[in-house]
Amino acid sequence: MTSAPAWWQRGAIYQIYPRSFADSDGDGVGDLRGIRAHLDHLSDLGVEAVWLSPIYPSPMADFGYDVADYCNVDPLFGTLADLDHLIDDCHARGIRVVLDWVPNHTSDQHPWFVASRSSRHDPRRDWYVWRDGAPDGGPPNDWSSSFRAAGPAWTFDEHTGQWYLHSFLAQQPDLNWDNPEVEEAMHGVLRFWLDRGVDGFRIDVVFKIAKDPLLRDNAGAARRHDEDWDTIDDRLRGIRRVVDEYPGRMIVGEVYLLDLSRVVSYSSGGDRLHMAHNFVFVLLPWSAQAFRTSIGDFEALAGATVWPAWFLANHDHSRVASRYNDDAQGAARARAIALLLYALRGTPFIYQGEELGLPDAVIPPQRMVDIDGRDPERAPIPWRPPSSAGPAAGFSTGEPWLPLGADAERLCVERQAADALSTLVLVRRLAALRARTPALQMGSLRMLETGADVLAWLREGDDDRVLAAVNFASVAVPLRLPADLARTAILLLSTAPGRAEAEVDLTAFRLGPSEAVLLRL
Ligand code: NOJ
Repeated sequence: MTSAPAWWQRGAIYQIYPRSFADSDGDGVGDLRGIRAHLDHLSDLGVEAVWLSPIYPSPMADFGYDVADYCNVDPLFGTLADLDHLIDDCHARGIRVVLDWVPNHTSDQHPWFVASRSSRHDPRRDWYVWRDGAPDGGPPNDWSSSFRAAGPAWTFDEHTGQWYLHSFLAQQPDLNWDNPEVEEAMHGVLRFWLDRGVDGFRIDVVFKIAKDPLLRDNAGAARRHDEDWDTIDDRLRGIRRVVDEYPGRMIVGEVYLLDLSRVVSYSSGGDRLHMAHNFVFVLLPWSAQAFRTSIGDFEALAGATVWPAWFLANHDHSRVASRYNDDAQGAARARAIALLLYALRGTPFIYQGEELGLPDAVIPPQRMVDIDGRDPERAPIPWRPPSSAGPAAGFSTGEPWLPLGADAERLCVERQAADALSTLVLVRRLAALRARTPALQMGSLRMLETGADVLAWLREGDDDRVLAAVNFASVAVPLRLPADLARTAILLLSTAPGRAEAEVDLTAFRLGPSEAVLLRL
C-alpha cells in the first residue's frame, strides 16, 4: 500500500523571491502586500506551499541573505503584521508558508556582530569566528568566499586587530556554531517563527554550519575543512528536535555538496532534514543519460525512506529556458522540465517565473547589482502586457529595481492565463493531474531503458501506473519501451501544444522535439 502523503509531499513548493514578485507601493521592489494581492496565481497553480526568500531587516548587501534581525520584517517588504496577514491568507487557501532561515551568517549590522567586533572581551566575541592572522600577516588559513569576486573568506578588523570569517561577503560574518550559545539562540529564532504559525523553513547553506574547529587549510587535504564537518549530524538533529516540537512542520536544506551520498545523508534517518536540495541535478547538461544517471543514483541512495526534493531553478541559477536553449529549444525544454519535476518521486520546487517559461533577463552592465552575476534570473515577474500596464508589466507602478525580461508582452501571466496552450496553463494542468493521481504523488519509481535520447520512468501506485517520457533530442524520435509494458495507453498530458488526451498505440508512438508526455498504462 502506498502511504498517505504529508503536505510537503503532495504537490509543488513554489519559491517566491519577494523583491521581484509584485510591488504594491511603487518603490520598484516587491513586497508582502504585493504577494497577498497575487494569491490567486498561487491557488490557480495548485501549490502546496510557498517558500519566501528572506524578508528580514537587512542592509541588502546580499539582498536579504545578510540578516540584521531574525525576528522582524524589513520595511522594504512591509511589517510583521503584513507577514501575519499573508500567513493567514495563505492558510485560508490551504497554502503553507515556508520561511528562509539563514543560520550560517548574519549581517555585519546585526547587533550580535556589532557587539562581537567591539572588543576581544565582549561576551558576544566568540559568537563569530575570530582569529589572529598567519605569521606572514595574511589571513588565518586558505579558505575562500563562495563568491569568487569576494576573494578570501577572512577580513581583517583594525579595531581589535583580528580577522573574522565570512563564507560569503565581508558583510556576512559566519556565526560560530561551535559555541552552544549560538546554537541555542538560533533555535530560539526557529521557535519565534514556529509560534507565529509558519509551516517550515528552507535552510540556507546548512552544510556550512559545521566546520573544522581547528580551521585547517583546504589545500592538499583529503576533504574540505570549511563545510560538512562531522558535527553536522548533531546540529541537524538539534534543529529537527526544535521543529518537531510543533506538529506538521517541514525543513528542507540547501545542501550544495556534489557527493550524492552526503546530500542523501542530510535527510536520512527521520531525525535530520525532511528534504535536501540536490545541486548535482541543477548542474546537469541537457542529456537523457546524464539525467537518468543522476536520478537513478539519487534513488538508489535514497531507498524508500528518503524523500527527494527536485528543482532545476532558483534565484542563484540561470533559468531553465536560457540554460538549456541549444537548438532554440529552451521554451520547449522548460515545458518538458516542468513535467519532469511534477512526475518524479519527490517534491517539485518551482522558482517563480518558471511556470511562465521565462528566460533570463538581459541586464545592461550599468544596472547589474549582484556581486555573483545572479541578476538575470532575479528580474521581476511580468503580470500584465506592457502595452496596457506600462513598462513594468504590472509588477510595479515605479521603476523596477532590475529591468524586466524583453518578452513581457507575450510571456506575462495575463496573456498566458488566457491561452490554453501556454506554459502557465500546462503547469496548472500538471499540478491538477498530480493532485488527483496517487501514483504520481506516492507511487514507486522505476527508470526504464529507452535509448540515448529518451528519459522514461514508471510511477506505480496501488492500482495505477503512469509512464513519463521526455525526449532530449531536438528532433522527433520513437518511444521504444521495454517489451513487457502495455501496448496501448491513455495519453494524459503532453508538453507539445495541441496534442490532446487520447488512447495511443505505444508500438508506434513518437515524441516530438523536446516533447514530454504522461501516459496512463
Ligand atoms: C544561498 C542563497 O541561495 C544565496 O542567494 C546566498 O547568496 C547565499 N546562500 C548566502 O546566504
